[in-house]
Amino acid sequence: MDTKEIVLVTGANKGIGLEIVRVLAKSGMHVILGARNPERGRKAQSDLKSEGLEVDLLELDLADSGSIEEAVKSLEQNYERLDVLVNNAGILHREEGLGNSTVLGVPSSILKQTFETNFFGLIDLTQRLVPLLKKSQNGQIVNVSSILGSLQLALERESQGPSGTPFAYNASKAAVNSFTIHLAGALRPFGIRVNSVHPGWVKTDMGSEQAPLSIEEGAKTIVDLILSDSSSTSKFIHLGEELPW
Ligand SMILES: NC(=O)c1ccc[n+]([C@@H]2O[C@H](COP(=O)([O-])OP(=O)(O)OC[C@H]3O[C@@H](n4cnc5c(N)ncnc54)[C@H](OP(=O)(O)O)[C@@H]3O)[C@@H](O)[C@H]2O)c1
Repeated sequence: MDTKEIVLVTGANKGIGLEIVRVLAKSGMHVILGARNPERGRKAQSDLKSEGLEVDLLELDLADSGSIEEAVKSLEQNYERLDVLVNNAGILHREEGLGNSTVLGVPSSILKQTFETNFFGLIDLTQRLVPLLKKSQNGQIVNVSSILGSLQLALERESQGPSGTPFAYNASKAAVNSFTIHLAGALRPFGIRVNSVHPGWVKTDMGSEQAPLSIEEGAKTIVDLILSDSSSTSKFIHLGEELPW
């Protein structure tokens, strides 16, 4: 029996996900690094190895239901349980990332592509992993959302006039927050906690060089939540503080 806590982090070959993997592996957890591109995944795994950290690699593309099915099969075959699922993988479509509001004209192709990874893939994976999570004594799911998914804050922002924030991305994260609340209720009887987190505006490929937070600072909200003995569930959290839904 594996006495270490077993954690899967999706979209973990770079950015915030890779840093979450690094910190959790250093803390002694048994970490599975999810990557959609096997080459990029192997590179991240070998970089961590050169730092003295051993992590497992799992090929997983959230936009491909076949890949999700295969990944879950492999997890069921190789691990007796899953203690923590970090749904970190996410996209901000390039056109939306340019900082122009898209609400008046976003093509359905961008909406669908964004929801495919940020929402549908996340849900498909999570639903399939619930049986493995139920085998944990201390299960938890962390959905990496964004403050841009807060409906309350959007209401305040948009009442002042056009905000210029990306619509498909924001809507996908609002939908993830809804999933968090529903799932937390459904898994409460099994002692599995489910929370949404906002990492902050972070210097990654998605966040850009303009972001104020380092990648280490961006990972902090998530690793603190996982490593704390918090009993929080159904919360939207940034650096230990609750955000409005
Ligand atoms: N950076 C910020 O300021 C910020 C703010 C709020 C929330 N977030 C959220 O934080 C999370 C991590 O973002 P980040 O800033 O670290 O972004 P990032 O540097 O762009 O990394 C995103 C990760 O997700 C992976 N990914 C994308 N599509 C995928 C798919 N279909 N299947 C599996 N993996 C996929 C990427 O893989 P590839 O390398 O193959 O592309 C990459 O590993 C995201 O959910 C994001 O929405 C970020």
